[in-house]
Amino acid sequence: MTPRPAGFAAIDFGTSNSAVALPAGAEGARLVEVEAGNSTMPTAVFYRADGALAEPERVYGRAAIAAYVDGVEGRLMRSMKSILGSNLAEQRTEIGGGRSVPYLDVVAGYLRHLKQRAEADAGHETSRLVLGRPVFFVDGEPERDRRAQAALEAAARAVGFAEVVFQYEPIAAALDHERRVEREQIVLVADIGGGTSDFSLVRVGPSRRGRADRRDDILASHGLHVAGTDFDRQIELEAILPLLGFRSLGPAAKGQLPREVPSRIYFDLATWHLINTVYTPARVAELRSIRSWYADPLQHRRLMQVLEARLGHGLAAEAEAAKIAVTGAGRAHIDLDAVESGLGAELGREQAAAAIDADLERIAQAARETLRGAGIAPERVEALYFTGGSTGLASLVERIGAAFPAAARVRGERFASVAQGLGLHARAVFGG
Ligand SMILES: Nc1ncnc2c1ncn2[C@@H]1O[C@H](COP(=O)(O)OP(=O)(O)OP(=O)(O)O)[C@@H](O)[C@H]1O
Ligand SMILES: [Mg+2]
Repeated sequence: MTPRPAGFAAIDFGTSNSAVALPAGAEGARLVEVEAGNSTMPTAVFYRADGALAEPERVYGRAAIAAYVDGVEGRLMRSMKSILGSNLAEQRTEIGGGRSVPYLDVVAGYLRHLKQRAEADAGHETSRLVLGRPVFFVDGEPERDRRAQAALEAAARAVGFAEVVFQYEPIAAALDHERRVEREQIVLVADIGGGTSDFSLVRVGPSRRGRADRRDDILASHGLHVAGTDFDRQIELEAILPLLGFRSLGPAAKGQLPREVPSRIYFDLATWHLINTVYTPARVAELRSIRSWYADPLQHRRLMQVLEARLGHGLAAEAEAAKIAVTGAGRAHIDLDAVESGLGAELGREQAAAAIDADLERIAQAARETLRGAGIAPERVEALYFTGGSTGLASLVERIGAAFPAAARVRGERFASVAQGLGLHARAVFGG
């Protein structure tokens, strides 16, 4: 008989950021310093293509993004979580230098890196794992959703986690919140991250703390695939891609209405997990050949520059930075010098708000639907607990809050409450 492995950890594998928790003290959990000075780390892997190594060198997190930004030859992988529920999950992806790897190896490599960080911190092996998952990996398709979780579990097992237990991310956030409440209440947890917006209606209270099975306290949960990376996408389509021809009309031929230039390339460019698909030689050749569709050849030239210099992730990052900057300063400047010398774009508060308005409405709608499923009136919700990076958007918090006028608004740790709660759950299921 193999002995029961001792150590355990909890991982919040996020679309944009990930974090790891270990048991601490008598019954708590603490976050691992996954990078020097940081307890969260971008979910990013960079494969270097500049070495002559048979096994390409990989770097993770902020170092991965820095390598990419510094122009090191190689391939940046982000939003790997979004791939889990898509057809890409079974495919290989090019990593530069004529090499390719299965997408799932990218996920596994990232999990291995987090495992090593946890073990270096704990000082012993961690072979049992609580892994967070969104309420839905894939909206409205249970079979694909099951496959997404199975793929993530297989990646975790492949790197040496012998036991893997899943917990819903918003439930984990509720466990973190519960440590601070003094009496029983119904709370709607809103976890608005990079890839998903998840809502859970949860009963919390001092007397419920520490129960191993909390299924009865989860009154309803609901999620959708609209969150921070979708806001980035809308901002990029609104403020950046028109300069590259998005929605522009071609030259007017005699007696015919001008036609709009093909738009799929722009949607792919603006979608984090599809960016790498636009650089294949066939795709680049196809786009080069449609130059005559453009009334303004400059727009086509800019588009080709983005493809040839692989600026897709850079543009998406500019859009993301502008989204965040505009909430504070009211406007943002987007530097597009890499696309064309001196090129730039401006983003104003109203313009940004209009670009993401439909997404905000869908998210607020999902919050209301969560209650409907449980037959609970909005007035019974005593608190709204906000977590996830996108709750940095005041307009989003406002929009959700307006649907529950009686509820207190509680802001959790935007980037840490899910990992903390997963750590608490790991203690409940693994003991120790
Ligand atoms: N100040 C801010 N204002 C608005 N959005 C922000 C801010 N800071 C970060 N974000 C956004 O938060 C998102 C990342 O949040 P978080 O780390 O909670 O997501 P995640 O856990 O990786 O994703 P998911 O839970 O959906 O898998 C990104 O889209 C990022 O642009
Ligand atoms: Mg998250």
